[in-house]
Amino acid sequence: MDQLIIEGGSPLYGTVAISGAKNAALPLIAATLLAPGSHTLHNVPDLRDTRTMLNLLEILGARWQRQGQTVQINSDHLTGVEAPYDLVKTMRASVLVLGPLLARTGFARVSLPGGCAIGARPINFHLKGFEQLGVTTRLEHGYVEAAVEGRMRGGTVYFDIPSVTGTENVLMASVMARGDTVIKNAAKEPEVGNLIDMLVAMGAEIEGKDTDRLVVHGVDRLHATESTIIPDRIETGTYMIAVAAAGGTVTLTDCTPAHLPALTEKLLLCGVNIETEATSLTVSCPEIDGRSICRPCSVDITTLPYPGFPTDLQAQFMALMVLGNGTAIIHETIFENRFMHVAELKRMGADITIEGSRAVVRGIGRDKLCGAPVMATDLRASASLVIAGLAAGGTTRISRIYHLERGYENMVEKLQRLGARVGKVREESARAGADVRA
Ligand code: EPU
Repeated sequence: MDQLIIEGGSPLYGTVAISGAKNAALPLIAATLLAPGSHTLHNVPDLRDTRTMLNLLEILGARWQRQGQTVQINSDHLTGVEAPYDLVKTMRASVLVLGPLLARTGFARVSLPGGCAIGARPINFHLKGFEQLGVTTRLEHGYVEAAVEGRMRGGTVYFDIPSVTGTENVLMASVMARGDTVIKNAAKEPEVGNLIDMLVAMGAEIEGKDTDRLVVHGVDRLHATESTIIPDRIETGTYMIAVAAAGGTVTLTDCTPAHLPALTEKLLLCGVNIETEATSLTVSCPEIDGRSICRPCSVDITTLPYPGFPTDLQAQFMALMVLGNGTAIIHETIFENRFMHVAELKRMGADITIEGSRAVVRGIGRDKLCGAPVMATDLRASASLVIAGLAAGGTTRISRIYHLERGYENMVEKLQRLGARVGKVREESARAGADVRA
C-alpha cells in the first residue's frame, strides 16, 4: 500500500489547474444511462471514483472510452439492471444509477450502501422520492429493488433535508415521467445545476435551476448529448486552504471562484488575501518579516447545504484552525461522524476537543505543529492531514492514501509543482525512511 511522505514547512508558489468535479462527474456519467446513443463528457477527472462509476456502467451494458479528460459513453444496449455489493461498498454514489435505470427500464436492483466513515448515510429520501413517482421499492437480501409498471407518473417530492444525490436521483427518475414533478427543498449545489444543464441538453424540461424548488415537465424521450463537468470546488477550496496553512502565493486556474462564497469569506477573515477572476483565483499570505506565512486568525464555521460552508471542506479548514491565533468552533451539521481526522491531527500536536457536533480548536501556531505518522480515514480527512503535514515541522507519513485517490486528481504532482516536498512511497520503503524530494 502507498503512503504519502511530506516534509513540512515549505511555502507554496506557482500555478495549478483545477480538475473537473468528482461530485458532478458521477451523476453526469450515470445520466448517460437515460438515453441510447453516444454521449460525450468533457473535463472528467481520472479518479478512483469516476473509474468505479464507469465500470458500473459497463456492468450495466454501456461501453466507454477515455481520451484525456473526455469520456465517450455509448448506452445503446443496456444488458443489466443491478449495481452489485462489491462496487457499491467501495463507492456509495453507485446508488445514482437507480433513477436513470428506473426511467429507462422500469426496474433496478442496487445494493443498499452500508454506513461509511462519516456517518450512517441512509438513502431513505431517494426511495421515498421514487415512491412519490409511482415506484414500488423493497429491500431483499441487502439489495433495494425498485420497480414501476410502465412509465413513472409525475408527483411532488419533499426532502426533509436537501439531499444532493437524492435530488439528482429523483431528477433523473422524473425527466421521462408522465406529467409534472415538483421537487421541494431540493439541493442547490452547483453539481445539481451541472446535471440539470446536461438533462436539459438531452431534451428534458426543468425549471428552477439553482433554487430549492425544481419543476420537471416529463418528456417522452431524451437523446444523447455532449456536456462539460464543472470545475471541482472542493479541490479548489482544498488548495486555497493549503496555501493559507503552508504560506506562499498560488494561482488556481480553470476553477469557478463564485462556487466558493462561504470559504472565501472565512479565509478573508483569517487574514488571507484572495483575488478572484471569473475562472481563476490567487491566494496569498501576507508578508511578515519577509516571509509569506501568516498565523491565521481563528474563525468559527458551521457546515450547511450550499451556499453555506461545505461539509467537504470542514476537515481541511480545521487543519488551518489548528494554526490559529485563538479558539475556533467548528460545527458539523451535515454528517454525524465527520471528525475522524481530529484524533490524527492531535497526534501532530493539535489541541482539539469534540463536544457533540462541535469541535473546539485551540490554535497552537505553526511552530508547535509537528509531523507524525497518521492514518487517512476518508477522502476529506486525508486532505486535512496533507494540509497539516505541509504546515508542520518535520516529516508526516500518511497511510491509507487510497482515500485521497478517490477524489483528488494528481494531488502529489500538483503539490510538487508548487514546491511542496511530498512524495508517494510503498509502505516498505517508507519504513526504511525514504528520502522525499520535490
Ligand atoms: N440523508 C438522509 N437520507 C437520505 C439522504 C441523505 O438522512 O436518503 C442525510 C445524510 O445522512 C446527511 C444529509 O442528509 O446527513 C445530507 O446528505 P446528502 O444526501 O446531501 O449527501 P450525499 O448526496 O450522499 C453528497 C456528496 C458528498 C457531500 C454531501 C453533502 C456526492 C457523490 N457526494 O453526498 O461528498 O459530503 O453531498 O454535501 O455528491 C465527498 O465528496 O467527500 C463527499 C462525501
